[in-house]
Amino acid sequence: MTAAPGVVVITGASAGIGAATARLFAARGAHLVLGARRVDRVRALADELQAAHGIRAIGSSLDVRDVASIEAFVESARAFVGAAGVAVLVNNAGLARGVAHIPHATEDDERGWEEMFDVNVMGLLRVTRRFVGDMVARGAGHVINLGSLAGIETYEGGAVYCATKSSVRVVTRALRLELLGTGVKVTCINPGLVETEFSVVRLGTQEQADAVYAGMTPLTGADVAEAILWTACLPAHMNIEEVQLQPTDQASAQKVHRREAQA
Ligand SMILES: NC(=O)c1ccc[n+]([C@@H]2O[C@H](COP(=O)([O-])OP(=O)(O)OC[C@H]3O[C@@H](n4cnc5c(N)ncnc54)[C@H](OP(=O)(O)O)[C@@H]3O)[C@@H](O)[C@H]2O)c1
Repeated sequence: MTAAPGVVVITGASAGIGAATARLFAARGAHLVLGARRVDRVRALADELQAAHGIRAIGSSLDVRDVASIEAFVESARAFVGAAGVAVLVNNAGLARGVAHIPHATEDDERGWEEMFDVNVMGLLRVTRRFVGDMVARGAGHVINLGSLAGIETYEGGAVYCATKSSVRVVTRALRLELLGTGVKVTCINPGLVETEFSVVRLGTQEQADAVYAGMTPLTGADVAEAILWTACLPAHMNIEEVQLQPTDQASAQKVHRREAQA
């Protein structure tokens, strides 16, 4: 591995994989621009990591569904990095809403479908477009997108979330082709089950979320951050196209080994 990159921008850094990635990059000496809607959380994390690791970090408000919010976030990132430019963009902001089967879906479910496409696909495109031009001009940079095992395999109740993550993989691949020869790298990270706030957001309650991971050992946000850091710290001539990582207890989207609870 080479040294940690200079400035790393992470979307959705207020929780889960994004926050864990911020922690790991900071420990390796990277400077950070952290974005999320819960700006209090990203500001507190930026302050904490600056104090702990002697790096520079800012937390800024970011809603990837809102163009004005993205423009303000990009401006604050540009002011923060100055001429050095952004070394790595981690497109991590994302979510799933519900597990409705299409024949039984309601209008409420349909609003969730729209939100998933808007955040996971359009949000990623909006943010990427605004950062990648500077990377091309500098002849260096790295766009790391959070796909999912759900972008590789599908399952009942997952049509729309899986479609968004399959789209992330397709967008990643097209971007890689479009950036060939520029020196800018592109990677897609595809985790299986990771215990974060993801399942609470998707299912609505902590109790339902806990059932997703019952009797098995899921990945943590820190586990996924290790994979992200690894891809970001390789030599300039080496591009990791995709990383698929799963818990040892998970062999496919729906094939999960669960141990019986001890009496
Ligand atoms: N957990 C898993 O099993 C798993 C598996 C594979 C892939 N992934 C992917 O990994 C990524 C991170 O998920 P996670 O597991 O860490 O979930 P999480 O703990 O729920 O974190 C999701 C992050 O996305 C942010 N976000 C959501 N909507 C946003 C918006 N409109 N604008 C800006 N930020 C937004 C949230 O911040 P705010 O709410 O503060 O805005 C939060 O920081 C997602 O793309 C997810 O699809 C997760």
